[in-house]
Amino acid sequence: MSYKACLFDLDGVLVDTAIYHFQAWKMLGENFNYQLTEEQNEQLKGVSRVESLNRILDWASYSATDEQKEAWLKEKNDNYLHLISNMNPSEILPGVVDFLGQIKAEGYKIALGSASKNAEIILEKTGLMPWFDLIIDGNKVSKSKPDPEVFLKGAEGLGFSPAECIVFEDAQAGVEAAINGGMKVIGIGEASVLSDANKVIPNFIGIKSADLLLF
Ligand code: G6P
Ligand code: MG
Repeated sequence: MSYKACLFDLDGVLVDTAIYHFQAWKMLGENFNYQLTEEQNEQLKGVSRVESLNRILDWASYSATDEQKEAWLKEKNDNYLHLISNMNPSEILPGVVDFLGQIKAEGYKIALGSASKNAEIILEKTGLMPWFDLIIDGNKVSKSKPDPEVFLKGAEGLGFSPAECIVFEDAQAGVEAAINGGMKVIGIGEASVLSDANKVIPNFIGIKSADLLLF
């Protein structure tokens, strides 16, 4: 299959913000004496802010009012914005810029498909913004991954069918979202975690645009 477009998740694929989300949620958990574990954080990857809070409160068996939840969502995001305020191009994951350069030179269209409402801030701070033909982020979708909305909007916005797009994802929910949208998906991370992906690579180091024809 020859693809026309590459759709990239942001957190954990292009930049490593998972650590900042983890820290920000851990800080928030102090409000209700809850210690989030790394295993739980793994399950929050690709999951929207509000859905993440709901899951954490569930794990903590804490029932909060809607008003309290609103305040905590703001507090978590304030924590997060503070943590990412000094992000810079050195935080782009290894091999990413080289790979983006190759696919751009070969004429592939490039879109972002992220649940994050902070995606544009991160793309600006890291200097990644100019690579993208289209940004679909948490402000443009109403359904969280594994719903395919974010990737279907990406394909549609670029003018391609799902079969012409290939998705790069580090989260279980994101891999399922791509599959649900009828797209091929390359998992970034560990094969044991991303077993439903068509192929799993640890990172972009040494990946060539010609490899897309093999996926
Ligand atoms: C990404 C991350 C999630 C995060 C979500 C929303 O998908 O993997 O951990 O909860 O974006 O991010 P936001 O920046 O809008 O809180
Ligand atoms: Mg991710």
